[in-house]
Amino acid sequence: MLGLILGSGLSACADSFADRTVVPFGKLPHFPSATIPGPSGSLIIGDFEGVPSIAIQGRLHLYEGYSAAEAAFHTRVLGCLGILRLIVTNAAGGVNPAFRPGDLMLITDHINLTGSNPLTGPNLHALGPRFPDMSEAYDPAMRAIAHKVAREKGIELREGIYIGLAGPSYETPAEIRMCRKLGADAVGMSTIPEVIVANHMGIRVLAISCITNMAAGILPGKLTHEEVVRMAESASA
Ligand code: HPA
Repeated sequence: MLGLILGSGLSACADSFADRTVVPFGKLPHFPSATIPGPSGSLIIGDFEGVPSIAIQGRLHLYEGYSAAEAAFHTRVLGCLGILRLIVTNAAGGVNPAFRPGDLMLITDHINLTGSNPLTGPNLHALGPRFPDMSEAYDPAMRAIAHKVAREKGIELREGIYIGLAGPSYETPAEIRMCRKLGADAVGMSTIPEVIVANHMGIRVLAISCITNMAAGILPGKLTHEEVVRMAESASA
């Protein structure tokens, strides 16, 4: 079974699942409640291109006030439901100056600059080891398949390192210069807790960033959430 965690503006693919069952988070025990107005999100169970799948529409973010463990709770539920592979998408700012808004970037590795880790605290041995390996956090075999499919479909697929910060303020130009020096290609406010928890549980991860904007200071002009959502929606298909 495949799990999917779909980023802002990128959740349309779960709408095309065959034999869909949609379960609003509000109906599920222990699911953290939404802190922002609007639908709080749902679990979508169905058949995605012939693969039994469960998708999360409406992930939780650190900037909403959730702990890293709370932000990764959905991933643990997917793992306990039996997913072996997880596809994560997100909206991200381009730090690599060769990128352009609308680009898709396969994440090869990440830098956790959120200041938190979802595995902090007593280890749940039933889920995974105390000190999980993160040396292939983004599964090389799944990445190779993604490149092959992108080539076949004529989709340009970039590759790079995602740096995760807690937000919710966008980064300053000085912070983005630091991110570049640290080796990041894209910056965002999600994904890190989920990927750490998935690796802890032995779930293989594929992650794709939609570059919705160039990060602060790379191009003149200011960043807006509206621009981010608009670009994600136009790249969603
Ligand atoms: N910074 C952080 N998170 C983001 C950005 C950004 O520029 N764009 C989309 N998510």
